[in-house]
Amino acid sequence: MNTHWTMNEQNASSDTPLDPAEALALLEFFAEAGVSELVQDTPVDNYSLPETVKAAAQPGAAPGEPPATGGRLLPPRQSQSQPAISTPAAIPLEGLQEAETAREIAANCASLEELREALERFDLCALKQTAKNLVFSDGNPKARLMLVGEAPGRDEDIQGKPFVGRSGQLLDRMLGAIGYSRENAYIANVLPWRPPGNRNPTDGELAMCRPFIERHIELVNPDVIAFLGGVSAKQMLGTTTGIMRLRGKWAVYSIAGREVPALPLLHPAYLLRQPAQKQLAWRDLLKLREKLSSLPEA
Ligand code: URA
Repeated sequence: MNTHWTMNEQNASSDTPLDPAEALALLEFFAEAGVSELVQDTPVDNYSLPETVKAAAQPGAAPGEPPATGGRLLPPRQSQSQPAISTPAAIPLEGLQEAETAREIAANCASLEELREALERFDLCALKQTAKNLVFSDGNPKARLMLVGEAPGRDEDIQGKPFVGRSGQLLDRMLGAIGYSRENAYIANVLPWRPPGNRNPTDGELAMCRPFIERHIELVNPDVIAFLGGVSAKQMLGTTTGIMRLRGKWAVYSIAGREVPALPLLHPAYLLRQPAQKQLAWRDLLKLREKLSSLPEA
């Protein structure tokens, strides 16, 4: 695959220069995405270039001749003025009773530690029976940025920590490219137990785990949230709209009456399967960075 990128694309929403660690993470992110050319910031119509310049760009042109600049235009940016359309997701009957119990338990947890202990004791979700470990969270609970993924996979189940497998490594690089890491971000999942064989969670499982992640978000009380992937975004925003329409569009997540900006992002596992989509992910990450850097001092 031949992918190209303008350096302005990475800095489109900020004039802040990247520090060396960010620049390295960004280059690794590009390399993974299959980027094989860098082009200049201003697109150039090669067809309108004078013949002398075109000739200089040909292989074998004399050294010292000015090279022609690449100039394929990237697709136009989507208009971001429309908020994500939110259709309330139907509440499944399956798991309703368990969800009620979960809500009462979660509401009574006054700290993250209590919430973790409550989950350790919660036996109504069948996922717990097949999982090796509870996967509660990782990162800094005081962070202003909270990321919410879908469910632990095999590596996470073994280690009891979210996003430690291949998609976690990619997530770390994505965060690194915008100057974040597990030291200044907090990570949890909609489901704290691995579905066997990484199957899709059922509506009942999602319904009974939802009160816990809602309380989890409430206790962390972040200033910005990123929902990773369709399952997380749809569950937490209460919508049936697909991730390809939700991604990159700011939504609002209410925490105890406080409206918190929430951005659905493509899931890193999806990006590992579809590396060409990393260019969309990168644009969305820039929006996240822009929002985070516009926050008033804490
Ligand atoms: N995918 C997720 O959504 N969460 C994890 O913790 C790991 C992979």
